[in-house]
Amino acid sequence: MSLTLTTAGESHGPALVAIVSGLPAGLALDRQAIDADLARRQQGYGRSPRQKLEQDTVELLAGLRHGRTLGTPLALVVRNRDHENWAWGMSPWPPEGEPSGKGTKPVTLPRPGHADLAGSLKYGLGDARDALERASARQTAVAVAAGAVAKALLAHIGVTVEGRVAGEGLEERIDEARTDRDTVGGVVEVAARGVPPGLGSYASKEDRLDARLAAALMGIQAVKGVEIGAGFELAGRRGSEAHDEILADAEGALYRETNHAGGIEGGVSNGEDVVVRAAMKPLPTLMRPLRSVDLETGEAGEALVERSDVAAVEALAVVAEAAVAFELARAAREKFGGDALGDFVGAWQSYVDRIPWRTR
Ligand SMILES: Cc1cc2nc3c(=O)[nH]c(=O)nc-3n(C[C@H](O)[C@H](O)[C@H](O)COP(=O)(O)O)c2cc1C
Repeated sequence: MSLTLTTAGESHGPALVAIVSGLPAGLALDRQAIDADLARRQQGYGRSPRQKLEQDTVELLAGLRHGRTLGTPLALVVRNRDHENWAWGMSPWPPEGEPSGKGTKPVTLPRPGHADLAGSLKYGLGDARDALERASARQTAVAVAAGAVAKALLAHIGVTVEGRVAGEGLEERIDEARTDRDTVGGVVEVAARGVPPGLGSYASKEDRLDARLAAALMGIQAVKGVEIGAGFELAGRRGSEAHDEILADAEGALYRETNHAGGIEGGVSNGEDVVVRAAMKPLPTLMRPLRSVDLETGEAGEALVERSDVAAVEALAVVAEAAVAFELARAAREKFGGDALGDFVGAWQSYVDRIPWRTR
């Protein structure tokens, strides 16, 4: 059983769309829980006024009846309220009438750090807007909705997933950067609790849970580094300080006192918390723009300036949580299968009854 996510949608287009396939039938979804995650993604220090404008909510177009999944593809939509300001500029069909609103002029001064230049060259575009609209992290809204669905599934097997900003001093860094009309990045951490041993596999590199989580996190805009457990720090430690000793309690259930491995050994979850971190680079749209070259005239200039966040680290914590939840749900669907929710949960139950594992 394979759980998949396909998304479509541009930043200022009419809507963002996701199709989630491979869910069991009978999973109850809570509209408010999905909308709460969408709201969490929009909050956070350093975001642009657009977040107030959008107030994202999810619409369900298929795969759900009376709040329960049908076991068929689930179609989710998050509309872009801002589209009304871009109705001409982002019209899917050739626009009618005189140009009006935003997005009417071509973007020819690519922003260093964004997809403007690479996308324009790759696709042969005269207007970098055709690249940046999809490259934009606006699409993470619908991925967060899909992540909320994944979390609803994982809850049935006792797994919770939580993302947070790692490290301190972010608000001060944001304040300073805003004053300087600059941007900042940061680090987020996602911890998944209750993950049973045995998700993922060492059989091939595509199956490894660490590789899959790294790809899921690197798949998020602006993420440039991923660590599993103690990650880069492990390189400087001795083996005796790096590995988590295996202990048994009075009932024979196995556990660890430390979790430097971040809950994954050999590409397989080992029953401890799965802990991953992602490093986000500073956002590329600067209110004091960097040097660029006009792709139309070849002349030196300054990069595009448009409404933008100073930082989106708190938002990344929510997006990364969704990405990790979806990947864990995918791995759980592979291991426990089942067309009906009860089959999936039953397979998990008989497996955890068989193994000497102690949930924390
Ligand atoms: C939640 C979130 C919000 C973002 N908001 C902005 C933004 O307002 N302005 C900006 O220039 N980049 C923003 N980014 C980053 C860009 O989308 C990203 O840097 C760009 O698409 C280029 O991709 P890359 O950084 O992965 O190379 C955001 C990223 C995330 C995850």
